[in-house]
Amino acid sequence: MTVLVTGGCGYIGSHTCVELLELGYDVVVIDNLVNSKREVIDRITKIIGKEIIFYEGNVQDEKLLISIFNKHRIDVVIHFAGLKAVGESVKMPLEYYQNNLDSTLVLLSVMKECDVKKIIFSSSATVYGNAKIVPIKETSPVGGTTNPYGTTKLFVEHILQDLSIADPNFSIVILRYFNPIGAHKSGLIGDNPNGVPNNLMPYIVKVASKELEYLNIFGNDYPTKDGTGVRDYIHVVDLAIGHVKALEKVVKDKGVFIYNLGTGIGYSVFDIIEAFERENDIKILYKIKERRDGDVAICYADVTKAYEELGFKAKFGIKDMVRDSYNFYLKNRIEE
Ligand code: NAD
Ligand code: UD1
Repeated sequence: MTVLVTGGCGYIGSHTCVELLELGYDVVVIDNLVNSKREVIDRITKIIGKEIIFYEGNVQDEKLLISIFNKHRIDVVIHFAGLKAVGESVKMPLEYYQNNLDSTLVLLSVMKECDVKKIIFSSSATVYGNAKIVPIKETSPVGGTTNPYGTTKLFVEHILQDLSIADPNFSIVILRYFNPIGAHKSGLIGDNPNGVPNNLMPYIVKVASKELEYLNIFGNDYPTKDGTGVRDYIHVVDLAIGHVKALEKVVKDKGVFIYNLGTGIGYSVFDIIEAFERENDIKILYKIKERRDGDVAICYADVTKAYEELGFKAKFGIKDMVRDSYNFYLKNRIEE
């Protein structure tokens, strides 16, 4: 079976390619490298020992997509390609709507034309906005997104629902990720954001490596056990395995299926700092700052549906996540 992975050079896409190749799927990647490097393809090959077909190009390029679908007998598409920086999306809304929506619309129309009707889409827990009840179930209300990035995810979910109504032959799985962290145990692939990171784990890694002096903790007055924000962190390899499970579903059933991918466990910022310090034997300096706009106090998943319908259960714990995040930094520091 051949899987087209859009955005396959990125953080989650590259880990998913590894899991797919390991299980014997053929993989074709399209990525315009706007937030990744070509070298990732070589690293995936190094981990798996198998060649991977790579097209450098934009998912908005209809001609290129048609040529890929004509050349390879694609069975399923996993659509990761997109811009994902929340702060940047507030400053550049048009670029975010253009990239994330247009690429999806072009992809879906080419898929329809080429009669490939199985797709897995990367959505986010951000579509739940400020959820009133945790753990968050897939049936929780969506909306109230606080930034253009989040709104693109919501819009694409609507587009997919409408497409399924119009063409019931489509099989669509929407995966709402919680907070992916960690890296492949080889240390060859991982999260490598440009510039000063927005997200907690890459920021902690930069403090550990002395590239940044201290972590800013955004608020210690939330109604949580220690006042800091609580999130559902999931190891990126678990997340990748979740996509393989979703692939089995999308091959079998028609319609739209939505799943949370998380662990179902909430950790505070202090929990993460402590686990990182303990596991890597490094002190993380921090300062308490104002709350960050748009942050919610507590967000973690109800993971029952993914377990019952996909047989997916995350197996890595917080120790693995903080260890592998730092290991990726260490391995790459040595190589660079
Ligand atoms: P990433 O930026 O590492 O990977 C995305 C990849 O898509 C990059 O390699 C980028 O070069 C490519 N890309 C972007 N626009 C493209 C286009 N128009 N054509 C071709 N390639 C394009 O991000 P990631 O963390 O791997 O996230 C993957 C997907 O999951 C994204 O859609 C993201 O919004 C979503 N998601 C991520 C998180 C997270 O915390 N990382 C959480 C929820 C949802
Ligand atoms: C962020 C995005 C969300 C996206 C998710 C993917 C925002 C507002 N939301 O979610 O849309 O889907 O990433 O991973 O950006 N924190 C600090 N100091 C830091 C960074 C973070 O204290 O330097 C805290 C935050 O306040 C939060 C927790 O750490 O409580 C996690 O933050 P982060 O990693 O940015 O993820 P989310 O805010 O959950």
